[in-house]
Amino acid sequence: MTVHFIGAGPGAPDLITLRGRDFIAASPVCLYAGSLVPAALLDHCPAGAHIVNTAPLSLDAIIDEIVAAHHAGQDVARLHSGDLSVWSAMGEQLRRLRTLGIPYDVTPGVPSFAAAAAVLGAELTLPGVTQSVVLTRTSGRASSMPRGETLAAFAATGATLAIHLSIHVLDDVIAELVPHYGVDCPVAVVWRASWPDERIVRATLGTLENALAHELERTALILVGRVIGATEFGESRLYAGDYDRRFRPVGTTPRFPEVK
Ligand SMILES: C[S@@+](CC[C@H](N)C(=O)[O-])C[C@H]1O[C@@H](n2cnc3c(N)ncnc32)[C@H](O)[C@@H]1O
Repeated sequence: MTVHFIGAGPGAPDLITLRGRDFIAASPVCLYAGSLVPAALLDHCPAGAHIVNTAPLSLDAIIDEIVAAHHAGQDVARLHSGDLSVWSAMGEQLRRLRTLGIPYDVTPGVPSFAAAAAVLGAELTLPGVTQSVVLTRTSGRASSMPRGETLAAFAATGATLAIHLSIHVLDDVIAELVPHYGVDCPVAVVWRASWPDERIVRATLGTLENALAHELERTALILVGRVIGATEFGESRLYAGDYDRRFRPVGTTPRFPEVK
């Protein structure tokens, strides 16, 4: 018996890995994390599967479900939205399972920041603009931010910011970022990337508040940085015609002579 933690992706039911889909199909128990996991993924569950929405459950109750499956010798597909490496609450579940001696594995998923970038047709690391992406959030009712992890501190680097769980405090986000990025800095807000009701607003830090005609529901990412909509950036050296590399030796004395 194994608990398969599976990244369910950002919303579109076909944005799941083949491995994740196959684990769902092979597991007689499926625990899924509420409304952010698309219901269509549950169609992969085998007939008669025990399917539980864990949104209303406490951690203890979730572990009780897993322990019951363990005693019955039944594999569990455990679905969380996006990828499991960020804001999934997987860590605390794995810690309990390690203590209980219950086996598990982890299958990654498409994170929402990548889905939002795809919707925008944006590479978040452009040569000569920025080479770093910060995945972050602001304090919420359930989680406070560690000291030092402020938007201002990240903004001081000039990196692209992918700000999660924060659309409800957009005014504060803008106020904290403007001193670092400037009012003309491009920003995009993507709601429910890859869902049928996906929505995008592109603006600048100075115009964003006016660009948002009305309050929208919370599942949104705020992407901030000069890479958004950039047209002035360098080309990657890797693909430059004169760049001598192992897979494309150039010149009479290449750095990596071809191995026969
Ligand atoms: C609890 S976190 C889950 C993050 C998830 N583990 C991931 O890999 O993206 C929920 C937040 O992720 C972002 N999010 C999740 N799905 C999204 C989507 N389809 N479009 C835009 N933002 C999304 C929103 O900021 C939302 O408040």
